[in-house]
Amino acid sequence: MSKTRIAFIGAGNMAASLIGGLRAQGVDAAQIRASDPGAETRARVHAEHGIQLFEHNAEAIEGADVVVIAVKPQAMKAVCEALKPSLKPEQLVVSIAAGITCASMHNWLGAQPLVRCMPNTPALLRQGVSGLYATAQVSPAQRSAAEQLLSAVGIALWVDSEAQLDAVTAVSGSGPAYFFLLIEAMTAAGEKLGLSRDTASRLTLQTALGAAHMAVSSDVDAGELRRRVTSPNGTTEAAITSFQAGGFEALVEQALGAAAHRSAEMAEQLGK
Ligand SMILES: NC(=O)c1ccc[n+]([C@@H]2O[C@H](COP(=O)([O-])OP(=O)(O)OC[C@H]3O[C@@H](n4cnc5c(N)ncnc54)[C@H](OP(=O)(O)O)[C@@H]3O)[C@@H](O)[C@H]2O)c1
Repeated sequence: MSKTRIAFIGAGNMAASLIGGLRAQGVDAAQIRASDPGAETRARVHAEHGIQLFEHNAEAIEGADVVVIAVKPQAMKAVCEALKPSLKPEQLVVSIAAGITCASMHNWLGAQPLVRCMPNTPALLRQGVSGLYATAQVSPAQRSAAEQLLSAVGIALWVDSEAQLDAVTAVSGSGPAYFFLLIEAMTAAGEKLGLSRDTASRLTLQTALGAAHMAVSSDVDAGELRRRVTSPNGTTEAAITSFQAGGFEALVEQALGAAAHRSAEMAEQLGK
C-alpha cells in the first residue's frame, strides 16, 4: 500500500471505515480520494480523515490504481455504467456490494480486473472478516493490494470460486445477526430464571466475548473446547443435551442454507 492510490466511489459507512483503517495503518491521506453526492458526507469524511473528496465520480478515479465501489447494491448498475468511459484498463475495481456478481460488473464496466468482496458489519469497528474473489484479469500485485485494503478493517480470506461468496455471505456476512439472536435469547432466558435484564445482558455479552476470545486464541477447535467444559452429568451437559434434542445443529445448517440460497437469488435479481 506504500504508493498505491485508492479511490472510493461512495463515502458512506463502509468506505469511511476502510478509509479510517487505511489511515490508521499509515497510508497517506494524499493516496486516498473519494466521491459522494452528499455535501455533508464529503465535509465529514474530509474532516475525519483529511482526504480529498469530489462530487463527481470520474474526478475521484483519476490516477487511481484501485477503485473501490462502495455504493448500495441498487446503485451499482448506474454507477458502473457512468464510470466505464473514465476507467483505464489497468485500474483494479474492488466491489464490496453485497450480491452483485462479477458477470454483472463486467457487463456494466467492460473487462476490467475485478475483485468482489463480501465484508461484514463488524468491519465498522475494524473487527470484520471478508471473503474475496478475484477474476482472471487480476494480477498478483492487484490481489495483494485488494487483500491489504480489506485487511485494514479485519481479516481478509480468498475463495477460489465466486459461488463460494454465497457461502461466505451465509457464514460471516449475515453471521453477526445469528450471534445477536443468541445473545437476545440468552438474555431473555436469564431474565426468566430470575435475573434483572441488565445483569442477564451483561453476563451474556461478556460470556460471548470471553468465549470468542478463547476460541480465537486456542490451538484446539470449538468442539474440543466445548467438550472440555462439559462435565458428565453437569449443568453444561444438561443444556447441550437440550439444545441437541431440539435439533440445534440441523437448524443451523438449514438457516445457513437458506441464507446462501437467498444470496444467490438476490444476485440474480440485482444483476438485471
Ligand atoms: N455496512 C455494512 O456492514 C456492509 C457489509 C457488507 C457489505 N456492505 C456493502 O457496502 C456497500 C456500501 O454500504 P454502506 O453501508 O457503506 O452504505 P452507505 O452508508 O449508504 O454508503 C453508500 C454511499 O454512497 C453514496 N452514493 C449514492 N449514490 C452514489 C453515486 N451515484 N456515486 C457515488 N456515491 C453514491 C451514498 O450517498 P447517499 O446517502 O446520498 O445516497 C452513501 O454516502 C453496499 O453495497 C453494501 O452492500 C456493507
